[in-house]
Amino acid sequence: MIVAGVMSGTSADGVDVALVKIGARGTDGASVKLLAHEAFPFSRAMRRAILEAMNAESTTTAQLARLGWRLGIAYTEAVQKTLTAHPCAVKLIGCHGQTLYHQARSGRFLERQFACTWQAGEMAVMAERLRIPVVSNFRPADMAVGGQGAPLVPLADYLCFRDLRRARVLQNIGGIGNVTTIPAGAPADKIVAFDTGPGNMVIDALMQRLFGRPYDADGRVAARGKVLNAVVREAMRAHFFRRTPPKSAGREEFGSGYADALLRACRRHSDRDTDAVATATALTAESIANAYRRFTLPLVMDAPVDCIVSGGGARNGTLMRMLSEQLEPMKWKLTTSDALGFPAEAKEAMAFALLAWQTWHQRPGNLPSATGAKRAVVLGQVTYA
Ligand SMILES: Nc1ncnc2c1ncn2[C@@H]1O[C@H](COP(=O)(O)OP(=O)(O)O)[C@@H](O)[C@H]1O
Ligand SMILES: [Mg+2]
Repeated sequence: MIVAGVMSGTSADGVDVALVKIGARGTDGASVKLLAHEAFPFSRAMRRAILEAMNAESTTTAQLARLGWRLGIAYTEAVQKTLTAHPCAVKLIGCHGQTLYHQARSGRFLERQFACTWQAGEMAVMAERLRIPVVSNFRPADMAVGGQGAPLVPLADYLCFRDLRRARVLQNIGGIGNVTTIPAGAPADKIVAFDTGPGNMVIDALMQRLFGRPYDADGRVAARGKVLNAVVREAMRAHFFRRTPPKSAGREEFGSGYADALLRACRRHSDRDTDAVATATALTAESIANAYRRFTLPLVMDAPVDCIVSGGGARNGTLMRMLSEQLEPMKWKLTTSDALGFPAEAKEAMAFALLAWQTWHQRPGNLPSATGAKRAVVLGQVTYA
């Protein structure tokens, strides 16, 4: 079955579409082959509208409703263009939608205690125009059984990257950083996955504020700056980094307020804008390596380790250099997922194709060890064509 995976993450940089051929293997396995991948950046205005909706202190109901439908149109056009470039018989679409709000841990509201999440994007638009059923809104089912609704990629990581002799540490660096650890030869319930902290989110925010650019292309700005180590050390004292997995984060933790505070801290040591960007980049590298030292190393002591980086952060040369320096003492092999046939930008979109396929076959999509859910459940909602 050919499935289209559609991903737009917390970076709000655009939509990635992956066309994936998926086949059943055994009773609960699947084989996954990437046929094509295309990326569609959001326009400046669209990105601004999404970021504003995520951080809004006040907006209008009409504005949010419109944004949901506009996203539905953006996803539809992205899939349409991908199919024009790579004609094939797609039978199902898996679309993550745009997370506008994600509160993984329960809080009190109107006299009840609960966690909640909101993925925007009207899927009826896509199902109708493309005449293909769409699976979307994957997080709530996991949260309804006590999970954090994230990360959801680990099941796909397991199906695509597990190895009998080598441990696999799969690091995605999107807006947020998240890692899936698969010990050599481990069964699914031995997988540990969690968010490591900021990915590109803080770097992007500072680039926007200080240089009027959406991101630090290839890490060139960070390469010109000096890392303010005292600021990184102080930032690493935050409770999030010490919390034991499962744990997840989003703009609620590392969004614009966080970037403002980090910038103020940088300014106390240096007035150079490049230093602030270098420091944000070092914080991402340090938070990833710190998470490995605390939580990952003990799981992978008995086998050689491949650390496989994906997401837009894999294209930030300075970040990758800092990460490789941090990992030097561990003697892990650091690569990007491209080397294993999964382009860094396509990996998450592929995962949502696979999750949709799981749902379509009424197979569970969450890994309780990764999300903290009480049990494995079928994820998502189906919009039939
Ligand atoms: N060439 C590049 N150089 C540096 N950073 C990049 C490059 N390409 C993408 N990125 C970073 O990756 C981000 C997008 O990553 P992505 O994996 O799509 O994240 P998300 O899942 O949050 O949308 C961009 O916002 C940018 O910070
Ligand atoms: Mg993206």
